[in-house]
Amino acid sequence: MTDDGFRDLMRTTRATRRYTDEPVSDEILHRCLEAATWAPSGGNQQSWRFVVLRSPAARAAVAEGARAALEVIQDVYRMVRPEPDDTSRQARSARAVFELHEGAASVPAVVLFAMQPQQMTPPLFQGASIYPAMQNFLLAARAEGLGALVTGWHTTGEAALREVVGVPDDWQLAALVIAGWPRGSLGPVRRRPVEEVAALDAWDAPFV
Ligand SMILES: Cc1cc2nc3c(=O)[nH]c(=O)nc-3n(C[C@H](O)[C@H](O)[C@H](O)COP(=O)(O)O)c2cc1C
Repeated sequence: MTDDGFRDLMRTTRATRRYTDEPVSDEILHRCLEAATWAPSGGNQQSWRFVVLRSPAARAAVAEGARAALEVIQDVYRMVRPEPDDTSRQARSARAVFELHEGAASVPAVVLFAMQPQQMTPPLFQGASIYPAMQNFLLAARAEGLGALVTGWHTTGEAALREVVGVPDDWQLAALVIAGWPRGSLGPVRRRPVEEVAALDAWDAPFV
């Protein structure tokens, strides 16, 4: 793949909320999970576990997390259910959020990312030993033509997920990622430019 190809892949790895009913094969999931294992972790400890959630009991826990997450999202983003005839971009995007969260039990693929925290590592920095693996998974999924979405459903459904999966007490849930064959196309990401977010030496000094 050319450098441009890889940059395009990153630029078009979007949050996908609408999927076809087509299942994701174990072979493809395995390739994405293998890419996850190529990520760095502190001391190369690789204290991660990637749990594919497929059983009805696991999917019920996922659905519970999604239901509770939707309540939070509605509060935080003041999101209202769009009128059926509203075709604005905002309405379409809100509709996708409602549909996804309300139909979460039947999304094509779900992977729980978990990690065992490392000693002497500050809490935020713990994430640096699991989220690169998650991002590798997202990029590998995109390269397969899949769409995927990082969710916070592992936080809103934590107790049920821990119970059904049997997560050891000293492991933390890091993310719940869903994936599937996308319905419709999303285009490139929209992000603040480097000029706005990068600095040189001092906080307020522009890098370029
Ligand atoms: C930590 C985190 C938690 C997220 N949780 C949810 C979620 O619970 N539900 C959801 O629909 N999207 C969730 N998202 C997706 C974000 O809304 C999405 O990545 C962001 O809007 C950028 O979308 P884009 O890449 O398509 O531009 C989450 C993303 C991250 C990184």
